[in-house]
Formats: sequence, structure tokens, C-alpha cells
Amino acid sequence: MNTMLRLHDVHKSFGGNTVLTGLSFQVRAGEIVGLLGPNGCGKSTVLNTITGYCPIDNGLIEIRGEPVNGMSSHEIAAKGVRRTFQLPSMPTRMSVEEVVMAASIQKHGLFSTFCRSGSTRRLERDTRSRAQHLLAELLLTKVAHLPAASISGGQKKLLGIACAMMEQPALLLLDEPMAGVHPNLRAELVSTLKRINEQGITLVIIEHDMHFISETCSRCVVLDKGKTVADCLPCELESHESVVEAYLGKKPSGQYQVAGVTA
Ligand SMILES: Nc1ncnc2c1ncn2[C@@H]1O[C@H](COP(=O)(O)OP(=O)(O)OP(=O)(O)O)[C@@H](O)[C@H]1O
Ligand SMILES: [Mg+2]
Repeated sequence: MNTMLRLHDVHKSFGGNTVLTGLSFQVRAGEIVGLLGPNGCGKSTVLNTITGYCPIDNGLIEIRGEPVNGMSSHEIAAKGVRRTFQLPSMPTRMSVEEVVMAASIQKHGLFSTFCRSGSTRRLERDTRSRAQHLLAELLLTKVAHLPAASISGGQKKLLGIACAMMEQPALLLLDEPMAGVHPNLRAELVSTLKRINEQGITLVIIEHDMHFISETCSRCVVLDKGKTVADCLPCELESHESVVEAYLGKKPSGQYQVAGVTA
């Protein structure tokens, strides 16, 4: 299968804070890969580097075999890469539906998306219909006409996914999609993401919710101290020594312990 995303020996520091220290991993087209690791290990930074929000110091990032490090986030988005944010912030003066419609600006331009006259009417109708379809799929129809900034944190997460899906990306990068979303919606979100994947969209999902990861992902990449420490099946996570060590720390005796629990 073709490689959709490849990071090779990526280094990134913020001043004296070295975050990525030779990170390498690959994602094949059509996969759903979980990106895991303890708080602060650099997961969101990885998404920021892939999407051009954050330039890398050294290394290589490729999308479908083409190097993208050094490109602007706009240029990388034009290659079919979309992402959501861990802490999404939404505009106060646009409705939820308008925010989703605006996500197609990149392709059609602001004027085309909102102009209400002449030949752009059909485009607006199609854009609205796609936005409404996505809002329904992400259970946001009831809040479609509310100001986007007024909806709940969990709903903003779902709205971020709707926006990212507006232009049918090739690669979708999700930063903690379950965080703040009610656990009752987990099954809905899992099946929505699987449906998205069945449309041919490759997914990389950062998530701490292990149930969610095991239900959604076909493979997991685990980061610790700026590097990949495991690349395994979700069912192998619990018994993977480096993963346990990354999350729980290693005792000098060789046993692992957190909060009095020995593994
Ligand atoms: N723009 C930035 N400027 C300075 N430091 C940053 C910046 N972005 C990230 N960092 C630092 O990089 C490190 C990794 O942060 P990052 O947000 O990538 O971690 P994470 O794995 O996503 O953590 P979490 O699971 O808590 O979301 C942290 O020490 C953070 O302070
Ligand atoms: Mg993060």
C-alpha cells in the first residue's frame, strides 16, 4: 500500500526545550493510526509540524512521497491535509453552520461561498447542503444556528471534525477528538470515523482514551522523549514494555509502578 505520511528523523526544539529528537514513523494510505504518549511528549507538536504550523529544525516530512517541511500550512492544506485542534476556538459572530461552510473557502474563495447572486447560487446551495449533512452526521444539527463560540467544548470538537471534512481530505489528523465529548457518544464517534475512513480518508488520531483507540485504530505509534518507542497493534499496547515505561516510568528494579500499582 502507498505511504500517505512519512516522518524521518524529525527534530524540534522550543528554545532550550527539546521536544522531538529524531522522530520517525509512517502511515500508509487508508490506515487509521493512533498517536499516543504521555502528556507533554510532543503529540500536538507532531501535528503542528506536519501541517506547517510549526517549522521543524531538522529531518523530513513527506505527504504521498513529497517533502512538505518548509511549506506553508496553506500549501500543505492544498495537498489534502486537514487537522483538528486539541483546544478549538470558534468565532463569536458566525453560526455553527457558517463556520462549516467557511471551511470550503480554501477551494472556492470567500466571495464564492457567501455571494448570493448569479452563478454562485448553486455553489452556495451545494456548500450548505454538504455542511448540513456533516452537521447531522456529527450530531450538531440542533446547534447549527447558534454562534459557534457558544456551543460546548465537546460540540466544538465535533464541529472541528465537520470543518475538516468539508473538502474531503486525503489525510485527516485529529487531536484528542474524544476529550470533552460525552462517553455516550463514543460509539457514534467511532462509527463516524470508520465511515470517514471507508471513504478512503487516512486518519491519524491523538487520543488518551484507550477504549476509543482500540475500537478505532488499526495500529498505534507511541512517542516518548521525542521518539517513537512503539509501533504496534492496539491490543499489544498493554504488554509493550516501552509503552508501559513511557506511561508509568521504570523502577530501578525493572518493575513498573504508579500510585501503588505494580505491573
Ligand atoms: N509553540 C510552542 N512554544 C513553546 N513550547 C511549545 C510550543 N508548542 C509546544 N511546546 C512545548 O512542547 C512540549 C510538547 O507539547 P505538546 O503540546 O506537543 O505535547 P502533547 O504530547 O500534545 O501533550 P498533551 O497530551 O498534554 O496534549 C511541551 O513542553 C510544550 O510546552
Ligand atoms: Mg496535545
